Amino acid sequence: MSKGRFITVEGIEGAGKSTHLTAIRDLIQSAGHTVLLTREPGGTPLGEGIRQLLLRPDLGPMSPEAELLLLFGARAEHLARVIRPALDAGQWVLCDRFTDATYAYQGGGRGLPAERIVTLERWVHGDLQPDLTLLFDLPIATGLARVAHRGAEDRFEQEERAFFERVQAAYRARAERFPGRFRVIDTDAEPDEVRLRVERALRPWL
Ligand code: TMP
Repeated sequence: MSKGRFITVEGIEGAGKSTHLTAIRDLIQSAGHTVLLTREPGGTPLGEGIRQLLLRPDLGPMSPEAELLLLFGARAEHLARVIRPALDAGQWVLCDRFTDATYAYQGGGRGLPAERIVTLERWVHGDLQPDLTLLFDLPIATGLARVAHRGAEDRFEQEERAFFERVQAAYRARAERFPGRFRVIDTDAEPDEVRLRVERALRPWL
């Protein structure tokens, strides 16, 4: 059985991931592949528990190091129990965020040295990288305005604009560094147009 493909979707808050993920899953499915849609942090009972801890705004300050280690703890579990078994069984895995988010948020946003992230990445999944990463990109003000309508903010959404500017710069730097794996999609458009752009990016893989 051939290995499945590992596809990740990334972007700042309000970039449109949640609107388009199920459509991406349907596209992959309609091309005849079995696909598992999952997310980070999360994807397992332990991972979802860690997600709640990471997003809760009421736990007080969290050190960037604790945040980084919790994310990789959730990721190790996700890889062991969900991602690797699915890929080994020939399924495709579509993951809402993965380690590029750690380089963007904990590296760019929090300012943690990239070497720390590299060390954990090598340890936890050095041999496994996404085959394709769709980076949803749009002006920060547009993304944050979309999120502002959603009600109670989580711990990341409470950050100031400068934080998201650093996150976005780090995402764009990742896309430039790994042009073979990344496709940057401008999501500052009507949903139908974004859908077409996503389809064009995915088509060669299907
Ligand atoms: P979301 O994916 O539902 O937008 O929320 C998850 C939040 O977690 C988002 O604000 C980004 C953050 N995050 C990190 O800071 N680092 C990571 O490695 C991942 C996967 C997510």
